[in-house]
Amino acid sequence: MAGGAGFIGSNFVRLLRHTRPEVEITVLDKLTYAGNLANLAEFDGAPGYRFVHGDICDATLVDSLAAKVDAIVNFAAETHVDRSLMEPLAFIDTDMKGTAVLCESARKHSHKVFLLVSTDEVYGEVKEGRSREEDALKPRSPYSASKAGGEHIARAYAESFGLPLLVTRGSNTFGQYQYPEKLVPVLITNAIDDLPLPLYNDGSAVRDYVHVEDHCRAIDLVLYEAPLSEPVYNIGTGVETDGNHVAAAVLEIMRKPKSLIEYVADRPGHDYRYALDVGRITGLGWEPRIALAEGLERTVRWYVDHQDWWRPLKSGEYWEYYKRNYRPLVT
Ligand code: NAD
Ligand code: TYD
Repeated sequence: MAGGAGFIGSNFVRLLRHTRPEVEITVLDKLTYAGNLANLAEFDGAPGYRFVHGDICDATLVDSLAAKVDAIVNFAAETHVDRSLMEPLAFIDTDMKGTAVLCESARKHSHKVFLLVSTDEVYGEVKEGRSREEDALKPRSPYSASKAGGEHIARAYAESFGLPLLVTRGSNTFGQYQYPEKLVPVLITNAIDDLPLPLYNDGSAVRDYVHVEDHCRAIDLVLYEAPLSEPVYNIGTGVETDGNHVAAAVLEIMRKPKSLIEYVADRPGHDYRYALDVGRITGLGWEPRIALAEGLERTVRWYVDHQDWWRPLKSGEYWEYYKRNYRPLVT
């Protein structure tokens, strides 16, 4: 498994250890700013679990590991849209070249399956209707374009070399162990400190927020049950929520005033709506179990109780990024 020290990857390791303890897991992770060994500390020394520090772009390393596993699940990526607007090339390296290196090793070693964890952002902004798996990919940010590039490379390996490929396109995921740069953990950790809650422009951009445990159960289902003849799965709740709603809900749970919300300058090229048709994954037997309100309650509690986890992350480089990213709204 690549990228297992990040947010969704580490939650996926936890799910697998509990539900499929017989499965041996090797995590390969570069430990970028978003990777964190603390996310996996509970598995240190556990039988059937191994951590390898390294880059998915390192073909020699990937090849040596791939020779010994049955399947590759790729969570590894540069993942934050705002950072992709500052450093696009890092996204192209990991999300495209890194994915290609994994595909090449998977091909060489005749794997049963290569599962690429992708995103609903590859469809681009969806002004109306809902994206279906066979829709064209029209990404608009360096992040989503790099993820779409990774998907295209993986599909080329499937078509050209028979690589057994599965792809999941998850929606906005939230929950425990999320690095505090995406919307939900920014709002929660800022609210804990009575700092302004930044919403781009007017806070009206729509997303589908899925809890990380639900997202991980869906990836598990696709990995173990999906037919290779139908390889791509949207994963989301089907519920549309805007930023204003998320911020208001967080503040209500925390009993903090709405005046903490601060509208800031918009993200360049901001996709104002994503919406998924989730018929295919629900047809496979999955449905979300954690509604947004309950998920936010649980997530607020987790960040309140785990300040030793996130406070060290919100230091030095983080605040430099933060200052560079958030600018006043000019009306
Ligand atoms: P994250 O940023 O929390 O973690 C990414 C992990 O990948 C980190 O541990 C990092 O160290 C590792 N990594 C980065 N570059 C690497 C490289 N070159 N080699 C090896 N490891 C490397 O990301 P996340 O939110 O957990 O997302 C995981 C996957 O799910 C990504 O592929 C992302 O595109 C996708 N996804 C995320 C969301 C979301 O809302 N977070 C939604 C849909 C899909
Ligand atoms: P984000 O969590 O960055 O995910 P996405 O990859 O979908 O953009 O942002 C979710 C939505 O919230 C998106 O419309 C941008 C918006 N947003 C804010 O308004 N303020 C913020 O501080 C952040 C990080 C995001």
